[in-house]
Amino acid sequence: MTRTEKKDLAALGREIANLREQLERQEKLSSLGMLSAGIAHEIRNPLNFVINFSTLSGNLLEEYRAMAEKATGGGDMREDMEDILATLEENQRKIAEHGRHALDIINGILLYSRGKDDACQPTDTALLTREYVRLSYHAMRANCKGFNASIREDYETGLPPVNLNPQDYIRAVLNVMNNAWYAVWKKSQEHPGGYRPAVAVRLHRADGRLVLAVEDNGTGMDRETQEKVYDVFYTTKPAGHGTGLGMAIVKDIVENKHHGRVAFTSVPGEGTCFTLSFPLSL
Ligand SMILES: Nc1ncnc2c1ncn2[C@@H]1O[C@H](COP(=O)(O)OP(=O)(O)O)[C@@H](O)[C@H]1O
Ligand SMILES: [Mg+2]
Repeated sequence: MTRTEKKDLAALGREIANLREQLERQEKLSSLGMLSAGIAHEIRNPLNFVINFSTLSGNLLEEYRAMAEKATGGGDMREDMEDILATLEENQRKIAEHGRHALDIINGILLYSRGKDDACQPTDTALLTREYVRLSYHAMRANCKGFNASIREDYETGLPPVNLNPQDYIRAVLNVMNNAWYAVWKKSQEHPGGYRPAVAVRLHRADGRLVLAVEDNGTGMDRETQEKVYDVFYTTKPAGHGTGLGMAIVKDIVENKHHGRVAFTSVPGEGTCFTLSFPLSL
């Protein structure tokens, strides 16, 4: 075998490895799609029962606690009752929390697979990005009391319309933005003094591509998270805050559906920058 043939073979090997990886990702996501067809719907109802009954039990427990406080004097018996009540309350809280987490996953899957309109159309990406960056910020502020962050936006003027699926693009923007807000919020919880949460969004053209860069000065990602960030259901967030679907969906949207690229740089404790790039001529 000549040197060039060896080189060709090596390149081919790499290509096969890439394709295999892509296939595995698509398989994971299409199995997600199948889930949504039936199971997700089926699970939603019983889950709502779990959440509702746990909320009801919580209310009853509160009433019971008030009654117990009046009814009994002091002593061991009273202490035992207090212990049992506290445990029941904690159990009830856990049932509700995990129920809600499961419901979030179901809703995420349904949202992603519903009304799959794969049509691309010439899209004003600067307009959409601006709108949804702000929307995500207000949503975050509504969910986290006292949350504040500075946001720098830079949209290149005169960007041409880009041929893509607007719903998909919005979904990708929201997922990346939500992660950025969460990362700076989390860091602000850990370092109450002196830290100023900041997110920068930039949309510009480079090398025949449209590039969206979202940079935050939040928690950053450790090695394990960097390796698994695109895995379906990988999350470092507590129940109710994350499902681990976001970046898997972003990758599918950008790379499989729009032939673009997702990349990131991240330094633990310092921050993260995600870039989504789309070919300008699709
Ligand atoms: N900007 C970011 N800063 C820090 N960690 C991030 C960021 N984006 C993603 N991550 C990490 O990647 C994980 C997976 O993200 P994602 O797929 O969106 O799921 P989720 O947000 O539901 O956890 C997150 O739990 C988090 O640990
Ligand atoms: Mg997310």
